Amino acid sequence: MRRFRRLRASEEIRSLVQETRLSAKELIYPVFVKEGENIKAPVDSMPGIYQWSLDRFDEELDRISASGIAGLLIFGIPEHKDELATEAYSETGITQRAIRHIKEKYPRLLVIADVCLCEYTSHGHCGVVCCGEILNDDTLPLLAKMAVSLADAGADIIAPSDMMDGRVAAIRAALDSAGHINTPILSYSAKFASGYYSPFRDAAQSAPAFGDRRTYQMSVTNGREALREIADDIDEGADMVMVKPALAYLDIVRAARDRFGLPIAAYNVSGEYSMVKAAAANGWIDEKRIVLENLIAIKRAGADIIITYHALDAAEWINE
Ligand code: PBG
Ligand code: ZN
Repeated sequence: MRRFRRLRASEEIRSLVQETRLSAKELIYPVFVKEGENIKAPVDSMPGIYQWSLDRFDEELDRISASGIAGLLIFGIPEHKDELATEAYSETGITQRAIRHIKEKYPRLLVIADVCLCEYTSHGHCGVVCCGEILNDDTLPLLAKMAVSLADAGADIIAPSDMMDGRVAAIRAALDSAGHINTPILSYSAKFASGYYSPFRDAAQSAPAFGDRRTYQMSVTNGREALREIADDIDEGADMVMVKPALAYLDIVRAARDRFGLPIAAYNVSGEYSMVKAAAANGWIDEKRIVLENLIAIKRAGADIIITYHALDAAEWINE
């Protein structure tokens, strides 16, 4: 008889043969910075997550920097939104100011800047809209301008999440000609048109005013296409690629890991977080166990980097 139980007999031996380990150093925490003053506004659908104004943001940054995680993914919520997302690429935009502040006070935190227009457009779409259509090629220069302006502000990594075709090449060219040849691109390559984003749209105030995002984000049915999206972003110059959401798409994470050599990130998105928090608040599940099990599953599927709203709690639990 094969006795698998020999290697399960004690905590010590189980730990010795543990195949997958989590480290705080591979976790990234998303944050929401909002224009205005004295704001620490809870996001109702995401318990524990807040929108912060810059004057109160240090409270959150202190926690992040003490946690030992790798860094943060920053989303800005401007006061002024318009058709062309002007605040997305303004030198004095909320995100640009927040990045300058972080890099000044917490230089060792990695700052990943999300590049997308939806928080800054009056219609909430990720690209330029004309006659009810989301225009691909007209959006690219704006994304490129936004990326350069975020890199100018000090962002360590540029992360385009818009899903326009050709944006990685456009952003790479713009970064290079602005002198940011060493700023890496983490592309949201396989981003699905998912129902799991709805709590985020409350947090970032970025829900589309008409229609949905299915003409640019991927169909949840398509695994092979996801690999073509990833391959294309690599060709265009992505340094790292992302699969998003994470838990319902672990097959894509695994397939990407087996096929490509570069670092792969998985985004454990807002809806995945909210479901765990809601069940835990009802006493139906053990939050710590479930969170660590989910993160291990993402890691086991092949992710090198995990973006998660659980990052600060998880970092504490990992180090216990
Ligand atoms: C913006 C963006 C979204 C998310 C990250 N960047 C929302 C969307 O595409 O509607 C979702 C993150 C989450 O749900 O946690 N393009
Ligand atoms: Zn967007």
